[in-house]
Amino acid sequence: MRSKVTVVGAGNVGATTAQRIFERGCADVALVDIVEGLPQGKALDMLESGPVVGSDARVVGSNGYEETAGSDIVVITSGIARKPGMSRDDLLLTNMKIVTSVVQEVVKYSPGCILMPVTNPLDAMAQRAFQVSGFPKNRVVGMAGILDTARFRTFLAEELDVSVESTAAYVLGGHGDTMVPVVGSTTVGGRPIADLLSPSRLAEIVKRTQDGGAEIVGLLKTGSAYYAPSAAVAQMVESILFDKKQILPCTAYLEGEYGIHGLFVGVPVKLGANGIEEVIEFDLTDEESAALQRSAAAVRELVDVMAAAG
Ligand code: NAI
Ligand code: 2OP
Repeated sequence: MRSKVTVVGAGNVGATTAQRIFERGCADVALVDIVEGLPQGKALDMLESGPVVGSDARVVGSNGYEETAGSDIVVITSGIARKPGMSRDDLLLTNMKIVTSVVQEVVKYSPGCILMPVTNPLDAMAQRAFQVSGFPKNRVVGMAGILDTARFRTFLAEELDVSVESTAAYVLGGHGDTMVPVVGSTTVGGRPIADLLSPSRLAEIVKRTQDGGAEIVGLLKTGSAYYAPSAAVAQMVESILFDKKQILPCTAYLEGEYGIHGLFVGVPVKLGANGIEEVIEFDLTDEESAALQRSAAAVRELVDVMAAAG
């Protein structure tokens, strides 16, 4: 029997995520949205591509949660996205309410699933999903770090005219302006990045990475990125479904790791059949460590705003 993945939110990120999972044939997909006809139409259209792309997976769309029952993974993309001039944090209270109601429904029908929040502001939404679900910490894992790292690696590969596959990097911290590209352990073809780029050029690439989401919003004008985000979700889904145990930068609940307590922040994790199987603690420079603490403090501010809002 195939695994089952629910994707809540049939907008840009949700629909492209569903498409990637369906086309890989690694799971049946339930696509849920509040807009009548939208998930049903997108799911049927996707299903009808099966004979062409060679997928026998099932994909169904619905406005309710019955169709999601027994999911192994539930990806949450429902919510509002950024428009030009908005930060991810501007989405906080609207998306908090949406994520709360979605998680309440999801856990009724898939009490054993792994929750994968994507909705922004991501780290705060992961914290909310964790609180509302009551799930153990290994079964709530947010997507952001793979996306931020992919942007960093793309820019490095372009700059040095090498394959993206020859770059190795991690971007940690909250998914916001304070994210931390870990320059000290970034390599290209096994060589430290500091040996290949001047400090000023490297600083420009780090800044472009931190502004990567806003760069896309500025170009699209009506929404935010979705091709790279959905690729990142699909990688996490496959690492779990195939128990690959890939070490990926994801948003995880920390209880002392990196000196951070009781908070979701982006860190390297081993992602396998049990969800987060281990938080990997890298050696950071003092500067990187301080930047990670600042990033965690920015996430905590949002969590405090949510707590005050109820
Ligand atoms: P979108 O606007 O295209 O899609 C959002 C969908 O959610 C809409 O179809 C809407 O009808 C649906 N929705 C709203 N309330 C709902 C509810 N209560 N139940 C079910 N569906 C509901 O937005 P897009 O581009 O797909 O982005 C979705 C979210 O993901 C945004 O918050 C965005 O900021 C975030 N995002 C996060 C990334 C990350 O790295 N963590 C990357 C890209 C986007
Ligand atoms: C991004 O970084 C919108 O958070 C999303 O593109």
